[in-house]
Amino acid sequence: MHFSEPYKTDYLFYQTRSELPFIDRAEGVYLYDHTGKKYLDGCSGAINTNIGHGNPRILQAIAEQARKVFFSYRTQFENEPAHRLAAKLVHGSAEHLTKVFYVSSGSEAIESAMKLARQYYFNRGQKSRYQFISRTPSYHGSTLGALSLTSSAQLELPFRPMLK
Ligand SMILES: Cc1ncc(COP(=O)(O)O)c(C=O)c1O
Repeated sequence: MHFSEPYKTDYLFYQTRSELPFIDRAEGVYLYDHTGKKYLDGCSGAINTNIGHGNPRILQAIAEQARKVFFSYRTQFENEPAHRLAAKLVHGSAEHLTKVFYVSSGSEAIESAMKLARQYYFNRGQKSRYQFISRTPSYHGSTLGALSLTSSAQLELPFRPMLK
């Protein structure tokens, strides 16, 4: 089989020293590297491609929406897709979950949940309530707030003095 070597630079900050396969394309539950080798994407990326890769309905919806408008900022504008997705999420959730706040990652979700909980008690005058309980071991994300709930020496030891 003929294949070309992938374009590689020294500019990426790596979290591992091991050589990793170069992913070239994906379809359904499979990833393919630049040699054509097939990998089962068993954990859906980082649990974020759980409807699979290259779903034609999703690709079409993304293209249609991108042609109409790519982004509008929530403090300035409203948009219909945001409302449609919010309705789907609320209708598919437990009855008491009635509001949606969009973020871009799990770490941001944890940060936002911590802030919302704190804000709630602060506004109710219970200002001494600011602590959170988490389990050992646990992983709650890479940003500082989420890291303060994470319990894994390897991940959070150097940052502990900053998190108190
Ligand atoms: C339980 C849990 N919380 C938070 C996160 C952080 O998510 P992200 O990597 O999208 O920031 C993860 C990621 O694996 C997770 O498993």
